[in-house]
Amino acid sequence: MIIEPENSKISIDDRIDTDNHICKDNCIDTDGSIGTDNRVINYLRISITDRCNLACQYCVPKEILPALSHKSIARYEEINRIVVCASQLGISKLRITGGEPLVRKGVFSFLKGLSRIEGINDISITTNGVLLESHIDQLVEAGVNRINISLDTLKRDRFKFISGRDLFETVWSGIMAALDKGLFPIKLNAVILRGINDDEIEAIARLSLKYPFHVRFIEYMPMGNSSVDISQQVLIPEIRQRIEHGIGKLEPVTRVMLNAKDNSIGGGSGFSSSSVGFSSGGSDLSCSSGGSNSGYTGKSHSGYTIADEAGPAKRYKIKGALGEIGFISPVSSHFCHECNRLRLTSTGHLRPCLLNNREIDVLTPLRQGASNDAIKQLFLRAVQSKPASHTLHDTNCKDNIDNDRTTVEAPKCNRVDTQMSAIGG
Ligand code: GTP
Ligand code: 5AD
Repeated sequence: MIIEPENSKISIDDRIDTDNHICKDNCIDTDGSIGTDNRVINYLRISITDRCNLACQYCVPKEILPALSHKSIARYEEINRIVVCASQLGISKLRITGGEPLVRKGVFSFLKGLSRIEGINDISITTNGVLLESHIDQLVEAGVNRINISLDTLKRDRFKFISGRDLFETVWSGIMAALDKGLFPIKLNAVILRGINDDEIEAIARLSLKYPFHVRFIEYMPMGNSSVDISQQVLIPEIRQRIEHGIGKLEPVTRVMLNAKDNSIGGGSGFSSSSVGFSSGGSDLSCSSGGSNSGYTGKSHSGYTIADEAGPAKRYKIKGALGEIGFISPVSSHFCHECNRLRLTSTGHLRPCLLNNREIDVLTPLRQGASNDAIKQLFLRAVQSKPASHTLHDTNCKDNIDNDRTTVEAPKCNRVDTQMSAIGG
């Protein structure tokens, strides 16, 4: 079941694994899904723009680069075509990222279009929240029901310091708007940096007591040339210890049994967790500049889907909390063996691993008239060149941007040249 190098032309039928769901080696499973090293790849993260209305220190480069030219960015129709091909290989879950995805014109119609593609059953978005309040209805109408929002601080001045713009309250109002609309789960992402926001670990974690948020702490990943120094990185064991010391014991949240066939949990008709039907009494945020409507009055929401349950976060709950706490530890305890994702950059390159420079250009062949089968071959190559794990710790690494697409080996090098803002996290 090993896929041969590109020039030996892969016949999709030849690659079917009789082993049913989980792929051994590199293969296409009987249900059409693609996989490698026991990982079934069913998740595509699509960056639709490199532009952002914030400039978070850990995300953008030290010297701001000019935005990419219009021409080099994949058009929506082009992305659609790529997604159609991907869906035929078993990609069913999409996450739209940026830069900031909501700054790109036409994004809501684009999202609507994606939701009509056969085989795509989960569309989510990662946003900085700046444009959320004003666009929440369009987002919901477009079929997005899961949303991840970056939130690194609860302090207005600090928000400005980290992101370059005085927009904390705008973002908080966006988060509240998403909550009021019943979006679930709402995942809040906090990148903790020593000397910048590590004194807020507890306060950010406490949001999960009062709101049904999945508050996630993320280890800083050194990429490109951001202005963050590696000495500022705070790893999850320390974050966890500080939460348990300050708030209380964290109880693991067990992933619910999944039923992949009908995309639901527990065998069918959706699942109601014990946190459903919550209602929150208080209305103040534990920070100086809470948004206008920060009291959550409780709202029932739809059931979990399979897509909520998978993911890089190790999930916990503080006793009695409405929400959860998640730890994303790409550095201290990577989750590569579970990685089910590919990325499509805004320039239409497939990126097999966030933390590896290898990219495969899909946009150029597509613009040159490549057939759907040829595009699918590029997906297979991307899956095949997914490294077994990242090597962020290898400091001897040199550049390895892979312009030579005749090799299929996963590149071994690790220094990630691309800025997070260009890949979309
Ligand atoms: P869902 O599982 O769909 O909820 O998404 P997510 O948790 O992966 O999404 P999000 O975009 O919020 O990412 C959260 C953090 O996880 C970000 O800092 C990402 O960069 C990081 N992350 C996401 N995918 C990967 C991955 O494949 N490898 C590594 N190392 N980090 C990842
Ligand atoms: N390390 C870890 N997480 C990062 N993000 C952006 N840059 C980095 C980095 N260098 C996070 C953002 C966003 C998510 C998609 O990626 O907080 O929420």
